[in-house]
Amino acid sequence: MFLSTDRLLLRDFVEDDWRAVLAYQSDPRYLRYYAWTKRTPEEVQAFVGRFIAQQERQPRLKFQLAITLPATGQLIGNAGIRIKTAGGHEADIGYELDPQYWGCGYASEAARALVQFGFERLHLHRISAQCLAENVASARVLEKLGMRLEGRLRDSERFKGRYWDTLHYAILDPEWRKASS
Ligand SMILES: CC(C)(COP(=O)(O)OP(=O)(O)OC[C@H]1O[C@@H](n2cnc3c(N)ncnc32)[C@H](O)[C@@H]1OP(=O)(O)O)[C@@H](O)C(=O)NCCC(=O)NCCS
Repeated sequence: MFLSTDRLLLRDFVEDDWRAVLAYQSDPRYLRYYAWTKRTPEEVQAFVGRFIAQQERQPRLKFQLAITLPATGQLIGNAGIRIKTAGGHEADIGYELDPQYWGCGYASEAARALVQFGFERLHLHRISAQCLAENVASARVLEKLGMRLEGRLRDSERFKGRYWDTLHYAILDPEWRKASS
């Protein structure tokens, strides 16, 4: 499974990808908005293993793809679209990037490719996403996709000794088609 964009190649994970994932998931900038305080090789091997297992499921519901730079093959993050139930009309998306590559528009480019895939090839009706309210860069990625803010859940997460609000966004197929035409 591949998705190409102007600057990126999104491809299925392979086992050996865990090393590149561990390298960026160990960066404190990456860890800031997650419950994790560090990552171990075993945890990241299991993380990548779950994405590989998803590739085998028929029908496939989850497409969690490695974000790579085509010129070098460098893995710089991951992004996924996950259908909620078989035969269902809704999926959610998520993404993460190696902090060395933040601020280049790559997350927006990868997320856009996933939403396009969801509406045009998976024929979904609704695609949603959520982020911590303080994760301004992530909220901005969703807004740039044309997603609408549907709600803010106060203190809906608890980790690192405190509560966090979450923002819930979604876009519907007709909204996407209108914005893309
Ligand atoms: C969220 C994440 C993927 C965004 O990556 P990115 O490379 O910054 O994304 P993009 O460059 O495509 O877009 C980010 C947008 O947020 C804006 N932004 C970034 N930091 C910001 C800040 N502190 N305040 C305001 N805007 C900010 C950027 O300017 C850009 O908007 P613009 O194109 O209108 O200028 C990245 O920060 C990341 O991997 N974080 C760790 C994992 C994570 O949080 N994943 C999301 C979980 S919900």
